[in-house]
Amino acid sequence: MGFSQKLFLIITALVVLADVATACSNGQCRILDECSSDQDCEAGLYCSSCLVGFSGSRCVRSTITNQFKLLNNSLSFNKYAFLTTHNAYAIDGYPSHTGVPRITFTNQEDSITEQLNNGARALMLDTYDFQGDVWLCHSFKGQCYDYTAFGPAIDTLKEIEAFLSANPTEIVMLILEDHVQALNGLTKVFTDAGLMKYWFPVAKMPKNGQDWPLVSDMVQNNQRLLVFSSIQSKEAGEGIAYQWNYMVENQYGDDGMKAGSCANREESPPLDDKSRSLVLVNYFRSIPMKELSCEDNSGNLINMLHTCYGVAASRWANFIAVDYYKRSEGGGSFQAVDLLNGKLLCGCDDIHACVPGSTSGACTP
Ligand SMILES: *[C@@H]1O[C@H](CO)[C@@H](O)[C@H](O)[C@H]1NC(C)=O
Repeated sequence: MGFSQKLFLIITALVVLADVATACSNGQCRILDECSSDQDCEAGLYCSSCLVGFSGSRCVRSTITNQFKLLNNSLSFNKYAFLTTHNAYAIDGYPSHTGVPRITFTNQEDSITEQLNNGARALMLDTYDFQGDVWLCHSFKGQCYDYTAFGPAIDTLKEIEAFLSANPTEIVMLILEDHVQALNGLTKVFTDAGLMKYWFPVAKMPKNGQDWPLVSDMVQNNQRLLVFSSIQSKEAGEGIAYQWNYMVENQYGDDGMKAGSCANREESPPLDDKSRSLVLVNYFRSIPMKELSCEDNSGNLINMLHTCYGVAASRWANFIAVDYYKRSEGGGSFQAVDLLNGKLLCGCDDIHACVPGSTSGACTP
């Protein structure tokens, strides 16, 4: 080998090494490529770590596939799946609104607006009577305290109003763990937030396992906000749907994460009760663990969706509720929703495979 050949090889080796060190950047890093900032990653991904799943920082998904835009919105509401954020209001760094430092856990990292913009469409909120108003709060023995309170519900509801106003073809669902006893307390705060104009009426909700109205009709009628309360009497009293008249759901917390089992939560009819047209799968720990949620939100979540499908009389979930929804080993909760929409809409493992001519996503219709 001559000197010039050796030199050429050395230079080639150096170029290859340099290339590995900065394998990608500037919005070109793909899923699970190493990254040093969000800007390195392709659109729809962000730079995140997952100690229990992979080394270093890598690009993982940060946004949903919009099923209505990828396909269409001409089917019944219960034919689609939606990402659900558990305790959507319990956000890292949310400022204290009581003057007392908060001593409680969080379940999410993004603001409500970010959650909605990234594709969460169902939000779980805990509502309490507090300081003469409706607040969002973690409870301690069923009570809201200064040190467990996040903030007045109106602030969060106004963010939801702004999203619905800016996105006239999107639907948002609120699932309330409702502790409000004040007469018409919820109606007042929803009215004050400007949300009543989007209200989907209880009278239009199917009572005996029928299909829901078409999403396209819900959009056309501008009835794009679905609210469910855990207090039964509010359905007749305030016209706020009682959650378990319309939905079945599995156990929440650690007991809901036992591989191979999908028992219903106490308040819910059994998962296989087809008189309820909507199926919700909870998959989050009793005490949130940020560093483990990337693993929880990945393969284990997918396995649970399959388990619950079997238990729910061969019905795929419409909602999956998770903590720290963006944390994953790659596709995470977004991939799980793609799976559900694929199954629900065309019998494929990924909604992308429902697009005519697509090659992505295993499909055996
Ligand atoms: C909407 O998408 C679904 C699922 O792919 C399909 O079955 C249906 O025919 C589509 N409807 C219209 C009007 O395109």
